[in-house]
Amino acid sequence: MRRVLVLNGPNLGRLGSREPEVYGTTTFEELAQQCRATGHELGLEVDVRQTNSESELIGWVHQAIDSRTPVILNPAAFTHYSYALHDALAMRTAPVIEVHLSNPGAREPFRHTSVVTAVADGTIAGFGVLSYRLALHAIAALTSAADAGART
Ligand code: DQA
Repeated sequence: MRRVLVLNGPNLGRLGSREPEVYGTTTFEELAQQCRATGHELGLEVDVRQTNSESELIGWVHQAIDSRTPVILNPAAFTHYSYALHDALAMRTAPVIEVHLSNPGAREPFRHTSVVTAVADGTIAGFGVLSYRLALHAIAALTSAADAGART
C-alpha cells in the first residue's frame, strides 16, 4: 500500500478549541481519523503527524524526501516565513500538496504570502477538513498516473 505523510505545523494540535470560527470544531484527532479513513478508501496508508517545532517538521520532510513518500503539508504559520521549510521542500522527490483549513488569501495581509507554494505541486485551501481529503484524492490520482507511466 502506498504511504502518504500528512504533516501539520504549529498550533494545529489545538484544533477543535483553536479559533473555532476560523478553523471549525473538528479536533486534530478527528481530522487525523478522517484522513486515515479517506486514505483507506483510496488504498493509501496515511501517517498523520503534528509538531510545533520547525526543526522536527523539516526532519519529517527530509524523511519523505529520502523515502520518496508523497506529502500533504499544512505548514500553519511557517507557511508565511519559513525559508528553511521552503529549501527542504525544494528537494522533494515525490508530490507535495500544500493545504490550509482556512483561505489565507482572504485573511490578514501577512497570510497572503506563502513561501511554500513555489515548492509544492499544488495548493488546496479554504475547505476545512475537506482540503485534506481533496489533497488525498489528488495524491491518489497523481501516484496512480505515475505508477501507470512506470509500467509502460
Ligand atoms: C492555516 C493558515 C495559517 O495562516 C495559520 O497560521 C495556521 C493555519 C490554515 O490551515 O488555515 O496556523 O495554515
